[in-house]
Amino acid sequence: MTGDLGGRRFLDGLEQRASEGLPEAVYRYVRQGARDGVSAAEATRAWDRFRFLPQVMRDVTEVDTRTSLLGTPVRTPLAVAPTTMQRAAHPDGEVAMARAAADAGALMVVSSNAGSTLEDIAATGVDWWLQLYVMAERRTGLPLLRRAVDAGAKAVVLTVDTPVVGTKYDGAGPTVWDVAEEGWVRANFPADYGSSPGDEKATDLGPHDIDWLAGATGLPVVVKGVLRPDDARRCLEAGASAVWVSNHGGRQLDYAAPTATRLAAVVQEVGASCEVYVDGGVRTARHALAALALGARGVFLGRLPLYALAADGDHGVRRMFEELDAELVDALMLSGCPGVTRVPADLVTD
Ligand code: FNR
Repeated sequence: MTGDLGGRRFLDGLEQRASEGLPEAVYRYVRQGARDGVSAAEATRAWDRFRFLPQVMRDVTEVDTRTSLLGTPVRTPLAVAPTTMQRAAHPDGEVAMARAAADAGALMVVSSNAGSTLEDIAATGVDWWLQLYVMAERRTGLPLLRRAVDAGAKAVVLTVDTPVVGTKYDGAGPTVWDVAEEGWVRANFPADYGSSPGDEKATDLGPHDIDWLAGATGLPVVVKGVLRPDDARRCLEAGASAVWVSNHGGRQLDYAAPTATRLAAVVQEVGASCEVYVDGGVRTARHALAALALGARGVFLGRLPLYALAADGDHGVRRMFEELDAELVDALMLSGCPGVTRVPADLVTD
């Protein structure tokens, strides 16, 4: 690897390195938020607002980062969120991401708009879930779902915050769609996908879709894009196995509240009955520690692994996990927590 910045600064320097290596249109696509970019910009700052009340005189001789996500054992609660365009970040795209996640013992959620085949991703040995956008004509998704089940997906993640793609302002110059190469997205759809009526995203999603997805796949359904306790409750009552607190990295409704400020309320509403995950602006293990204290079972990363992938392919993502996991162990020890499943709610204060 060239330009090794070393230590913690490897993580701090990732976005800069990605911006230097990627075509401008691709970097802008990854970085941007919807509209004024307010939600995207404030996500990390919202995690930074938390302060800790470390416990002392606790035995932290052994600190365990292992946990499970819907029954799948993982070596870290940090996981890869679904992001499209991974082959724009690196030629090996999702396969490189999957290799690194597998080595880290981390879960990966594969975007339905991935540029690598589900079979190639699965062949890395990674534990993975499929993310899905439900289409107006529900049957359109069935071939993808069957393919995912056959390839070994362990859950389906239904993204519910995208009845329409949030508007982004690109300014002058080419957009990512102008520079995108054949096969960067939709590698798992038939060639004629998108041309039939009903191939557009559903604008009438409802709790029945959770039931339908569970029935169609036999897999647990995770609902991604929930910010409100009442919605989390509806998902749970409709049969969701987990709820994922997310505002899509600030890429959908701008000025949507930061996930760091909404997680606790969702956990309070449904956390006793199902797993709750979070993403949005997580850039350090300190953010993840706060999320764990607030009740998240898994903490998902969107842009950070994409920047790591752009910076140095699977090596970059592997090192990202190594450094985050080392930081997490350090933070757990210093806060008197012997494991990621034993982080008390009163560890954080604001
Ligand atoms: C995304 N995200 C996303 N979500 C999803 O459900 N399906 C998808 O295909 C994508 N694609 C995608 C592309 C890019 C470039 C980004 C940045 C994000 C949203 C993603 O899963 C996650 O919610 C956010 O990225 C989390 O915020 P951070 O970690 O990027 O701050």
